[in-house]
Amino acid sequence: MIDDIRAARSAALELIAAAATLDDIARLDQDLLGKRGPLAVLKSSLGGVSDLDERKAAGRALNAATEAVTEALGERRRALAAAALDTRIAGERLDLTEYLEAPRRGHSHPVTQAWERLEDVFVGLGFTVAEGPEVETDWYNFEALNMPASHPARTEFDTMFVDHGGAPPGTTVLRTHTSPMQIRAMLASPPPLYLVGPGRVFRRDTPDATHMPVFHQIEGLVIDRDINLGHLAGTIEAFTKAYFGEGFTSRLRPSYFQFTEPSGEFDIRRPDGRWLELGGCGMVHPNVLRAGGIDPEQWSGFAFGFGIDRMAKERHAIDDLREMYTGDIRFAEQF
Ligand code: DAH
Repeated sequence: MIDDIRAARSAALELIAAAATLDDIARLDQDLLGKRGPLAVLKSSLGGVSDLDERKAAGRALNAATEAVTEALGERRRALAAAALDTRIAGERLDLTEYLEAPRRGHSHPVTQAWERLEDVFVGLGFTVAEGPEVETDWYNFEALNMPASHPARTEFDTMFVDHGGAPPGTTVLRTHTSPMQIRAMLASPPPLYLVGPGRVFRRDTPDATHMPVFHQIEGLVIDRDINLGHLAGTIEAFTKAYFGEGFTSRLRPSYFQFTEPSGEFDIRRPDGRWLELGGCGMVHPNVLRAGGIDPEQWSGFAFGFGIDRMAKERHAIDDLREMYTGDIRFAEQF
């Protein structure tokens, strides 16, 4: 009997060792440990062993064999499962370092490049960068900038209104310039203020070579004690040289804006002697300071604003502003 058990045990262990798949293991589990398995058959014949000691010894041997077979099955199952997982992982492995073509580096749009360079130059001059919303109230866009309702100066701005049901029609606009950021900045923190505010602006304009209904401006605002026109001219000149280069210079011409007094237009002279109109500027009007909660007897300041798209257009000698917004990659790739 003991010999039969030993033989059944080693035959079972051999089969287990030879199992190649998890399915084999499942089948062997049934065959070897099931009711009709070799060990079960031997167990049922235990009753026929008449010698008590011999029967006990055989019983122990059977239990040990069953344990050994169970353990061997478990071990082989774990080993096969681990190997199966390894195979699967190897099969699903992705080589993320592989590329079939040299990567093509993108770059930002010429307007974004100009925007970022302008910020850099002004930060270098000690300014901070402010932001403001593109959808504005009439008050910030016009009224606080000394353009009361029905003031004729408003007609110079081809305004787009937003009707959103939350406010009376005609009181919410897509900002027509970055100047409302002046008011927001003044109301947000007390002077002194040295900031620029770049952003997207909107006008009800038909696109042509020099106009777009959506374009970009950068606003500048300085408020401090005893700020005068000389500071404005000096800042414009420092900016011109820093942004365009030493060969460039600037000038101010008298002009008119509702929110500055006096007001100017500033031009830059290119090394070839040509003058180019860049933007508007002036000393911040006392009414504007008051709207921003600042006492005009204590503080004074200057402001300026100019178009970023136009600067990018000049810098890259682009003929037509519309080219910049076609989204044609062949165009953008040139800059
Ligand atoms: N906001 C004016 C425009 O869009 C430009 C401008 C003029 C801005 C004079 C200023 C300024 O800050 O002082 O036409």
